Amino acid sequence: MDGGARARVVLGVSGGIAAYKAAVLLRLLAERHACDVTVIPTEAALHFVGEATWAALSGRPVSTGVWDEVHRVPHVRLGQQADLVLVAPATADLLARAAHGLADDLLTATLLTARCPVVMAPAMHTEMWEHPATQANVATLRARGVLVLEPASGRLTGADAGPGRLPEPEALAEVAARVLARARRGVDRPADLLPSDLAGRRVVISAGGTREPLDPVRYLGNRSSGRQGYALASTAAARGADVVLISANVELPAPAGVHVVPVGTALELREAVLGACAGTDDPAGAGRADVVVMAAAVADFRPDTVADHKIKKSHDSADDDGVPVVRLIRNPDVLAELVRTRAAAVIVGFAAETGDAEGDVLAHGRAKLARKGCDLLVVNDVSGDKVFGKEVTEVTILDGAGGVRPLPAAGKDEIADAIWDAVLAWPASTPTGAPLE
Ligand code: CTP
Repeated sequence: MDGGARARVVLGVSGGIAAYKAAVLLRLLAERHACDVTVIPTEAALHFVGEATWAALSGRPVSTGVWDEVHRVPHVRLGQQADLVLVAPATADLLARAAHGLADDLLTATLLTARCPVVMAPAMHTEMWEHPATQANVATLRARGVLVLEPASGRLTGADAGPGRLPEPEALAEVAARVLARARRGVDRPADLLPSDLAGRRVVISAGGTREPLDPVRYLGNRSSGRQGYALASTAAARGADVVLISANVELPAPAGVHVVPVGTALELREAVLGACAGTDDPAGAGRADVVVMAAAVADFRPDTVADHKIKKSHDSADDDGVPVVRLIRNPDVLAELVRTRAAAVIVGFAAETGDAEGDVLAHGRAKLARKGCDLLVVNDVSGDKVFGKEVTEVTILDGAGGVRPLPAAGKDEIADAIWDAVLAWPASTPTGAPLE
């Protein structure tokens, strides 16, 4: 699949009550993650959610067996052409059939022809999940490179509870997007498709853009959407990090498993970031952050006074022409302060640059890295139409040792993943002197 194309996902649905959640998953994959989804239910799955639902939601024909549209050889074609096969829910029976290489319906035949990543999300009663037969099948599938997710714990079909629940559709859609992104970047070792290499790391990320009030209704702001910072947060959480996201005026849903701290101004952001880095925001005393990423667009200046009433056209501070004069004062440079106090083992800055007479985007990036003294600087070219809020971004990661890592144009999640790879590769030291990775 090339960078701009929609990913082709086969969504296998086997016959468990959690099949209803797969309908939401299908929507998320298609709408939030730009995937073309073909649903392959098993016969048993259709007892829970009917064919019409899958056909209507996916906009594609649906069949369970290998005898429909035989001339198009669907049992071979779907698997061969897929970028990802995701089975959710995967019942004990489906796991058993897949582990034994059966091909007695369209889904199992597709599993045998797929050469792309295969992810299975088991859902069943705890006893069935824990049974040695199921565990042996899971072990076999994992040994063959299938990513079999752990089921979630919680309420099952009846009044009982325990491990066996299907994870929520949002979490499954995130997993699918992450696996697709890494596969697109050429990662093909199954173990590397869904790494938990940030497990145990405490990560602080700032996102969005600060707003500096002029009066109760007006502010000086910027056009940062916060999407890159949010992608960094959800990606880090998916890779196992403990994530605090300091969010300045962002209208996006909180990423799963991330602690979001909303802020408004640069001063509020500074306090929240420093507190989160020092661990003073956590009553349990989480300790110093391992990584801080300043993805927020922080206003360099703020009005030196904030009117307590709405500024009128005929304002006292108007100049001779009757135009109000706003005096600005400098905001603290949070990134510089993080560097000065070595607030985390790895400190990452962002720079949205346009070239000018004094140098191109990279020259400005290099100068900023030297000036700010951070470990990594993610340089984003915002010249021309490559402005804030675009789906696809092109960045270069510079590091303090002179390294230059240009990344191919990609979506925000993919860029976020690459930034975490660069963070893990950076030879920083933790407070105990042990290397970060
Ligand atoms: N930053 C910060 N505090 C500020 C301004 C910026 O922490 N008051 C951080 C941003 O979050 C970003 C990095 O510094 O990670 C670079 O931001 P930028 O606005 O490009 O830096 P400036 O030093 O303001 O550079 P310029 O002279 O280009 O405006």
